[in-house]
Amino acid sequence: MLFLLIAFQNEKSNAATGNVELIEQNWPFNGIFGRFDKASLQRGFKVYSEVCAACHGLRYVSYRDLAGIGYSSDEIKAIAGQYEVKDGPNDEGDMYFRDAKMSDKFVEPYENDQIARLANNGSYPPDLSLIVKARAGGADYIYSLLNGYKEFPENFEASDGMYYNEYYPGKQIAMPSPIMDEIVEFDDGTEATHLQIARDVTSFLAWTAEPELENRKSLGVKTLFFLILITIMLLGVKRKVWKNLE
Ligand code: HEC
Repeated sequence: MLFLLIAFQNEKSNAATGNVELIEQNWPFNGIFGRFDKASLQRGFKVYSEVCAACHGLRYVSYRDLAGIGYSSDEIKAIAGQYEVKDGPNDEGDMYFRDAKMSDKFVEPYENDQIARLANNGSYPPDLSLIVKARAGGADYIYSLLNGYKEFPENFEASDGMYYNEYYPGKQIAMPSPIMDEIVEFDDGTEATHLQIARDVTSFLAWTAEPELENRKSLGVKTLFFLILITIMLLGVKRKVWKNLE
């Protein structure tokens, strides 16, 4: 029975940051039959590229991985071609810039950590590849964070250049609210509301954190059916073997 318990265990974590309950969403990738919504992932990729990529890298994701969210090779080549990567040294010993290729990792926004901090009030914008796995509450936490900006309450000791966010530990964060209505325009006509944008970019980050999720889950389901089937067969065999002993 143990495996059943493990398999059906609710994946949602109720981890709350501070004392504010996270906003819980019904994510299509939760649960044992969980799948990603490819249209949402593509919209989320657009949000990442046009908004978050100004400050956050995705160093564990290659352009060719985008095939996993439904882009064709030609589309991926075109996407990669918009970026430049530093390569080299060449025969003269110099580093040089060239267009990114499908096999390159996503281009980093800053040359080094120091510049990243200088540009962000001393705080480092963390790499987002694995952030959904790295934070208690996972996707619900990221979604809540993106929707958690408010005015500073009275008597709050706010530090310079910080923003109030209910869900961030300590409640002040160096990242200004990155999204607002219509900050991107979705190619599939979906209305780009604040909530929609937050949901899509969170889904995209859930995918970057675990691109193999669908394979893992479908393997789990197959294993489960196999175990149930074999249990039934063994029960049948047992009955047959013991039948004449009564
Ligand atoms: C102007 C730069 C900037 C942009 C644009 C930006 N961020 Fe951030 N982000 C930051 C900084 C700086 C931090 C670190 C905050 C801190 O340490 O107080 C951060 C932190 C985060 C964190 C980590 C929170 C934690 O629990 O540690 C997440 C998640 C995040 N950003 C998501 C996003 C998403 C998603 C987008 C795009 C919709 C985005 N950010 C756009 C600067 C930015």
